Order: sequence, then C-alpha cells, then structure tokens
Amino acid sequence: MFSSFSKLIVLAISALGANAAAGTLQQQTDNWGSNPTNVSFYYYKPTNVGASPALIVAMHYCTGTAQAYFSGTQYATLADEHGYIVIYPSAPDSGGCWDVHTNATLTHNGGGDSLAIANMVRYAIGNWNVDSSRVFMTGTSSGAMMTNVLAGAYPDLFKAGAAFAGVPYGCFAGDGLWNSQCAEGEITKTPQEWGDLARSGYPGYTGARPKLQLWHGTADTTLYYNNFNEAIKQWTNVLGYTQTPVATVENSPLSGWTRYTYGPSFQAISAEGVDHNIPVQENDVLAWFGITSATTTATTSIPSTITASVTATSTTTNAGATQAQWGQCGGIGWTGATACQSPYTCKSINDYYSQCL
Ligand SMILES: *[C@@H]1O[C@H](CO)[C@@H](O)[C@H](O)[C@H]1NC(C)=O
Ligand SMILES: *[C@@H]1O[C@H](CO)[C@@H](O)[C@H](O)[C@H]1NC(C)=O
Repeated sequence: MFSSFSKLIVLAISALGANAAAGTLQQQTDNWGSNPTNVSFYYYKPTNVGASPALIVAMHYCTGTAQAYFSGTQYATLADEHGYIVIYPSAPDSGGCWDVHTNATLTHNGGGDSLAIANMVRYAIGNWNVDSSRVFMTGTSSGAMMTNVLAGAYPDLFKAGAAFAGVPYGCFAGDGLWNSQCAEGEITKTPQEWGDLARSGYPGYTGARPKLQLWHGTADTTLYYNNFNEAIKQWTNVLGYTQTPVATVENSPLSGWTRYTYGPSFQAISAEGVDHNIPVQENDVLAWFGITSATTTATTSIPSTITASVTATSTTTNAGATQAQWGQCGGIGWTGATACQSPYTCKSINDYYSQCL
C-alpha cells in the first residue's frame, strides 16, 4: 500500500500542467449541506462567471489536495476564458484518498465522501445559479475512481465525466482504503455484472446517465491497465453499447494514444506506454463536456480511420488452456490462454485486449 501511495506522490509533481488562473482558490465554510465524512469544499469562480454557468467538479489523486489539483491542472485557467465554476473537493482521509471502497459512498444519498460532493453540487445549483444541465466531473487516479463512483451513485447530478487512470464503479469495494486485487487488475466481471454493480448505486433510477470519457496508460503499474478494459465493459453495458468500438482513431489526441468511441456517450482513450502518471488533457475534456466547441479541437473530429476490428497482437503460449465467455484471450503483453471455450471466439477489442465473445 505504501509503495502505491509513493507512486501517486510522483504524479503530483510531474504529471499535471501548470495553472495560471487570475484568481484564487476559495473555501466554502458556511453550512452547505450534509457532510458526514468532513470533506472540505473549495472552489474557483472566475471574475467573468456566466449568468448561468457550467460547473466542473475536479477531484484530486491520493496524497493530493484541492490546492494541489487547483494549481496542478489548467481547469481554473480555462475557467477564466470560458466562465464556468470549478469545485475542488478535498478528501478528509489522512492519506488524501477518496473513500471509494465504502458502501455508503457507493450508494445514492448513502453518506461518505460522495454525498458531500453531491451536496456541493446541489449547493452550487441552488446558490450560484449553476445550470443543472451542465454539471461535469473529472479526476485523476483516486479522483478518477470517484468519477466512476459518482457516475453510478449520482447519475442524476452529472451530465458528463472524464476519468484519468481510475477503476470501475465498485471495483475498490471492501474493508480497506487500498484494494490491491482491484488495483492490480485482478477483478474481472462480465459486462452485465459490472453494469448491474453500477446500477446498484442508485436502485430504481431510470433517468439519463452521464456520458463518460476514460483515459488510461498501458504501462500503469499502480492501477493496472486491465481496469480500463473492465471499466469499458461496465459503462458500455450501462450506456447500452456493444463492446466493439464504432470508431478507432490513432494518435488522438497525442501521438501513440488511441481513441475508441463506442457511441455518442462513451469514449475510452488508451495511452500507449504511459504509466500511472497520465497527463491530464484539459482541452479535450472541455470539448467532451461541450463547454468548448467540438470543432475547435482535433479530439472530437470525425474519425478518418474507422477500424471496427484491429488485428490481435498476441505473444502467447499456454496453448492448451481455454477462456470462458468474457475472459481475456490476447493482446500485447498477454501471456494467458488464447483459445475460447465453445461457442465463443477470441475477438480483438484493442491492441492490448482481446476477449472471448
Ligand atoms: C474537518 O476537517 C478540517 C480540516 O480539513 C479540520 O480542521 C476539522 O477539525 C475537521 N472536523 C472534524 C469534525 O473532524
Ligand atoms: C449499502 O448501503 C445501503 C444504504 O445505506 C443499504 O441499503 C445496503 O444494504 C448496503 N449494502 C451492503 C452490502 O452493506
């Protein structure tokens, strides 16, 4: 657990772009709603804030703070330009992680850090005239995990989210703050199981779900890359898409990164060779949220190459073994079985992941 935290400290100092916002981070100390775990409420309001502004909730990594994520990302600088408000919650835990493992936080209005964050959003809508149809969330590492948690537990509050190096909703559930099994990518479920888990965050909810953008480095050894594949299963199931991308765009937005689009509400960007220290792509995120026009960035342009199936690159042996439905059966670095149990066949999802479908 300690080594994982120390890797996350590296993230704080090297991955995040500098902020040059005109104003300062402020703290909301008045009574803003139920806050059972004592999360701190910080925010940035630009001087040119819109009459009915959009809101971004930006969540830090383990060992991080509101101040660190404010100064280490460009969301505040860009708020000066675009007139939205940013809320930076600060985790009460001494290790600076969000409580993404607790049942309370995983449950709609169940308590935990997520309820405090939800209440910050409700406060902003009620008191700052925030446009409730333009409430967004993003985060890195533990903050990306919380983005997944909020997508399951508070789909009613958020219109869209972007998670940099997280894990699926419910993957960290358990007794401790750090779930090694999930972190190391050892928890696998079917799309239906992952989808059911996410839907359990708000039982009976039938409204719209936030659109989501997931980002993950293939060389992540803090929250292993398989978590990206598992999260793709989860959100494609929740959002009603198949697991086959409808568009695959290489070198988007950076060289070596591949953007898989599964439908209008779900994208997953695989960053080849990138470790847990994945650099936040603020401009791309703002376009995904619809705060900036999609045409001003390369990121949401019509894909020039549509490759529904990528040829699997497999380095495997294990010839005798077979995988059950949904199991991994190939991809760069995969050393397990490559054959599927009848009647399933091994289909390439991306260069790093093939699955028995
Ligand atoms: C809540 O957190 C703040 C600092 O973030 C601390 O000063 C305060 O004592 C905490 N309150 C409780 C009840 O733990
Ligand atoms: C989780 O919390 C909810 C709401 O408090 C409760 O109804 C449910 O039984 C809990 N589930 C578990 C597994 O503890």
